[in-house]
Amino acid sequence: TTPALSGCSAHSELNPGQLTSTARLPAPFTVPLPVPTPMKPSTTGAGGDRYAMTLRQADVEILPGYRTRIWGYDGTFPGPYLEARQGIATALTLTNALSVPIATHLHGALAPPTEDGFPTDLVYPASLADLADPAKTAAMSDMPGMPGMPSMADPLARTSALTRTYTFPMAQRAATLWYHDHRMDFTGAQVWKGLFGPCVVRDEREAALGLPCGPREIPLMITDRAFDADGQLIYPTSDPTLLGRPDMAKTIAAGAQGDVILVNGAPWPHLEVAAVRYRLRFVNASNARRYELTLDGPADSAFTQVGSDGGLLTTPLTHRTLHISPGERFDVVVDFSRYPVGSLVTLRNTAASGGPGQVMQFKVTSKAGDDSTIPTTLSTIETLTPTGTPHRLVFSRGADRWRINGTTFDPAKPLLHPQFGAVEEWRVLSTERHPFHLHGTQFQVLGRNTGGPGAYDHGWKDTVELSPGTEIRLAVRFDAYRGRFLAHCHNLEHEDMGMMATLSVS
Ligand code: C2O
Ligand code: CU
Repeated sequence: TTPALSGCSAHSELNPGQLTSTARLPAPFTVPLPVPTPMKPSTTGAGGDRYAMTLRQADVEILPGYRTRIWGYDGTFPGPYLEARQGIATALTLTNALSVPIATHLHGALAPPTEDGFPTDLVYPASLADLADPAKTAAMSDMPGMPGMPSMADPLARTSALTRTYTFPMAQRAATLWYHDHRMDFTGAQVWKGLFGPCVVRDEREAALGLPCGPREIPLMITDRAFDADGQLIYPTSDPTLLGRPDMAKTIAAGAQGDVILVNGAPWPHLEVAAVRYRLRFVNASNARRYELTLDGPADSAFTQVGSDGGLLTTPLTHRTLHISPGERFDVVVDFSRYPVGSLVTLRNTAASGGPGQVMQFKVTSKAGDDSTIPTTLSTIETLTPTGTPHRLVFSRGADRWRINGTTFDPAKPLLHPQFGAVEEWRVLSTERHPFHLHGTQFQVLGRNTGGPGAYDHGWKDTVELSPGTEIRLAVRFDAYRGRFLAHCHNLEHEDMGMMATLSVS
């Protein structure tokens, strides 16, 4: 007979991935929300907008009273806010002052394969410039228990030491993007340490719509982390004392999840708002946690979704609850005029994961004028109609690795050969819940099983949630670049454990 589960073990069964903090945590909603301001380009002009960042270690205050060691773009958690303009190239020069190789991917960008942050396309630190020295190679990681170095023999890997410039043409519509590390086998650990940041692309059509802007348009990057008694980040494989513990193996299998929710790097923050409309650009930058977000208040306390991963929807959609899986973006408008001045409006996570139930709080402090609007027509989106035999992908678990079509990631061996310019149907079937992400294009969701698209599937997408036993049908067209791209699970621990496929678009 099965013994009755105590509340506690039921909880850990619900969420075997959750790590527990031992640091002194702040009371919720006591820390102010950091509102990102766009980074200034070092130059603008013929070569586009040029930015430079250094990836470095830093000790930053995330929890009040502690200094937490992070790895950050410019030593910040999250990294600087990049604002790009449609039609103007963004050149991002990264200097690697860390002790490990990095690869940076601008998630949602249409970029040629050389600029896409392929997991073996590494920027080495100076300390490893001499990769011929195996002793140095072995000593490079402070993450024991992770697989070794990515295959240096990958003939397609373009490598460089110290500095690398990524150039993004930005020939794409306005959208919410984000950038993060993508190093093969180590993405989960390196993003957890802080290698991620926000980006938006703007265009004139969107600017003319009259959506809330300026201080009333705020990116909200949601992540979860756990902190030890010294305020340091806990990651399952970075702490040798946790290795070999069966619950840690489970954690890695589920993906790393913390018990502290950070928004823009602050724990359960608060933001003072006027009783007007705000545009909130949600990015789920968590390694493995999915959220079901709700706002306290009257029954009409809904989010008005205006955009998804690939920019504006055709018409606004209303959601009482917003489901957002790792990697996804939801661009919403919240009208705080429906709350009386003085209201405290909590953004909650109602996902049945046994995880933290609150995210942040808005304090409605004043009345103000509002000349923003939410137009009933936001944009036009062509409808993709696939032809030909569908490609099939099956996401599953096998032995100790996560797999696509029975195999684990091979950077040198494409699993799929999409045809450039063709509208193809992809059928993705999963035995568990996984966020599916595609590089190199944006796709449309045709439906799930025999039904139509789900509530969170609208618009151009690059990341969608796969649910257990469900086949999702996608219309996919690569019409920007030929070459090597990726499809993978955006649960970063699953990705690191093989759930990624190389694509060759030709
Ligand atoms: Cu946001 Cu291939 O990742
Ligand atoms: Cu997964």
